[in-house]
Amino acid sequence: MKTTINQVHKYVDQTVTLGAWLANKRSSGKIAFLQLRDGSGFIQGVVVKEEVGEEVFQLAKGLTQETSMYVTGVVRKDERSPLGYELNVTGIKVLHESVDFPITPKEHGTEFLMDNRHLWLRSRRQHAVMKIRNEIIRATYEFFNENGFAKVDPPILTGSAPEGTSELFATKYFDEDAYLSQSGQLYMEAAAMALGKVFSFGPTFRAEKSKTRRHLIEFWMIEPEMAFVEFEENLEVQEQYVSYIVQSVLKNCQLELKTLGRDISKLEKITAPFPRISYDDAIKFLHEKGFEDIQWGDDFGAPHETAIAESFEKPVFITHYPVGIKPFYMQPHPERDDVVLCADLIAPEGYGEIIGGSERIHDMKLLEEKLKEHGLDATHAYKWYLELRQYGSVPHSGFGLGLERTVAWISGVEHVRETIPFPRLLNRLYP
Ligand code: 4AD
Ligand code: MG
Repeated sequence: MKTTINQVHKYVDQTVTLGAWLANKRSSGKIAFLQLRDGSGFIQGVVVKEEVGEEVFQLAKGLTQETSMYVTGVVRKDERSPLGYELNVTGIKVLHESVDFPITPKEHGTEFLMDNRHLWLRSRRQHAVMKIRNEIIRATYEFFNENGFAKVDPPILTGSAPEGTSELFATKYFDEDAYLSQSGQLYMEAAAMALGKVFSFGPTFRAEKSKTRRHLIEFWMIEPEMAFVEFEENLEVQEQYVSYIVQSVLKNCQLELKTLGRDISKLEKITAPFPRISYDDAIKFLHEKGFEDIQWGDDFGAPHETAIAESFEKPVFITHYPVGIKPFYMQPHPERDDVVLCADLIAPEGYGEIIGGSERIHDMKLLEEKLKEHGLDATHAYKWYLELRQYGSVPHSGFGLGLERTVAWISGVEHVRETIPFPRLLNRLYP
């Protein structure tokens, strides 16, 4: 029976054939242990000389890393292995011999691994991170579908820039100037007026000259937008959604979390509701903690976010930021003109901001003023956006969750470069 490693539990004590690569091996005079991988998982193949005979045993002993093959054997239950099963090998058919695979089981430097990203992806650790990423994506679609959201795809080539004009990738669109999307939000607002509750999932681009463990030039964002949903209700959707993806990973990626050595007890605590702290109180808190440099009106840096997050076991919402450090589209506070109805969600354990969201301005006149203040063209590039407020305007809210930062946090990996298959970083466009 031809099968895959993640299905061997169905064939205990039966003979199966796996298409596999050799990840690693060790052997003695009488027995060889092959670490086999097939994309679905990893399994140990045990080759016993007495059972298979001299020829197969010598073949097994001589296999080189990443050689591809069909391996036949009997599935055995094995409590000691992470998978719970191993393969008692009876035959091997080599498909392609691999010579000098550069990524050996020893330690390598980051630059070397990044240069070999196309091959590094095969490692057990990278495999685990990609599986967790996939589970978060799967759970995202499940959550939003179950909660009545329709998926809408905003354009990637755009003429308007929601998050400010300094970090745009410009390109020619025939004779016009165009930009790669920084956020689909403005289009999602239009979609919410048509479909009520919508979400998008797509690539976004920021020409940020930041070289930190949280910044990518190209990253993927999940952007829900909801008509008739106000500030506080928006936070409730966010905490439900984030808890849902964490609990889904806990349920469906146990092996991967173990491979990564993730402290699962920390993830088990991630259930709604999440704590909330206002920007005002966050500033007071930081002053008490000895951050004297930061003043009301300043944006938080990574050390500030980490200090705040450290006092909570769950992600924490920082709410009501000063109007001056947030984009033009955010709804002002009903009783204060110096803060807006927004919140950033800060992940625990120093992973930083994973969500930015807000209630949106729905009054046409106010939006027109804000566009003007920000030097944005209400007669051309933003004309259509303004027009959304002209025909039955309603309160509405939404948010954007950065996938890679979320994968980093849930997987417990240090740097976002390991959370996307082919990271685009400052000074890195290959592979
Ligand atoms: O806070 P941001 O800039 O919000 C927006 O773009 C809104 N228009 C979203 C919305 O309301 N629909 O970005 C949202 C999230 C951040 O919280 C962060 O997780 C992630 O996107 N992000 C990045 N991730 C990796 N690399 C970067 N350079 C990122 N910039 C933002
Ligand atoms: Mg933000």
